[in-house]
Amino acid sequence: MAGWSAEEMERPVPADQVAPEGREVFISIRGLHKRFGPRHILRGIDLDVGKGETVVILGLSGSGKTTLIKHLMLSLPVDEGAVRVGRFDLARLSTDDREAYRGGMGVVFQHAALLGSLTVEENVGLPLVEVERLPTEAVRPRVVAALKRVFLPAEEILHLKPDSLSGGMRRRLLVAKALVHSPPVVVLDEPTAGVDVELRRSLWSYMRSLNAQGVTVVLTTHYLEEAEALCDRLAIIDHGQVVAVGATRELLARLDEKELHLTPTGRLDELPAALRELGAELLEDGRIRVRYRPSRADVGAILERARQAGIGIRDLATSEADLEELFLRLTASRSPALLQGARRGAVLGEETV
Ligand SMILES: Nc1ncnc2c1ncn2[C@@H]1O[C@H](COP(=O)(O)OP(=O)(O)OP(=O)(O)O)[C@@H](O)[C@H]1O
Ligand SMILES: [Mg+2]
Repeated sequence: MAGWSAEEMERPVPADQVAPEGREVFISIRGLHKRFGPRHILRGIDLDVGKGETVVILGLSGSGKTTLIKHLMLSLPVDEGAVRVGRFDLARLSTDDREAYRGGMGVVFQHAALLGSLTVEENVGLPLVEVERLPTEAVRPRVVAALKRVFLPAEEILHLKPDSLSGGMRRRLLVAKALVHSPPVVVLDEPTAGVDVELRRSLWSYMRSLNAQGVTVVLTTHYLEEAEALCDRLAIIDHGQVVAVGATRELLARLDEKELHLTPTGRLDELPAALRELGAELLEDGRIRVRYRPSRADVGAILERARQAGIGIRDLATSEADLEELFLRLTASRSPALLQGARRGAVLGEETV
């Protein structure tokens, strides 16, 4: 792997924190604040990323995702707090370290541009020339392989200028460029924005395979499905703070909320008091909905109440909150109106969501 020596790769962050389950902490962010003039954008971010882990950062537009990962990309200085990646303390990098660090990173910026005057081959091959200093003839096979991994027709497009490619193709080109030199750390800001659903899914399996090679991945997305498919852990940020971090299942379990839907044998005009006390509601379709906390109540006890109240049950179903619901709960404080709008779609984008 380019940029970082094997020893640098192996050395974990000298930290006092608890690593994510069973892993060494490789990226450690502590008390990171960022102010742009009077605007306090990051408000004390704490986040650990284990070696070989994928952490997906989710947050509404403007919550600070790009600002956060720009620190990892060295495009914003660490003014307040600490950011460590492997042996590198990003607040204190010597010029040599800065170069070594950059060489070991694969990055896709949210508003990344390809160089319009260079061909696809030259654009994607840049890290190989600049970081690995490969001779020209050695660049092409690596570029072709990188393009193929992101499902681009390498031979057809090598000599084209990026302008003649579609938006989704250009996005994939950026991913190819970020990964062409096999960096040990990859930081991607919305890598699949504008890529169609099918290709996005194919890219996920490629990105997942990076972890198997020990690559540490931090990425942002607005696609909840992408977050679920890709991450070991999610970090949800809101107003510049990490409001939840963990595996999707863990976070959902923490929500501790399920719904039980009961279909009574006969039509009910109203609910018996015993069920109303549980907060049950009679739905228009005749079913009874009971929201409960799995840690405190169980379905058996609820059914027993219904039975004691003389209600026969023909059918039942339970459902639990999904990632979308969780995300909205954690971030909707910004505007209750978002909650309604967001339920309609799983893509959480601009302010309208
Ligand atoms: N250079 C800057 N100067 C002033 N304000 C900035 C600067 N960069 C970012 N901000 C502000 O910081 C806030 C967070 O921006 P950021 O780009 O980190 O959000 P984001 O979570 O990445 O949003 P999106 O999902 O839309 O990409 C925004 O209010 C933005 O205007
Ligand atoms: Mg952003």
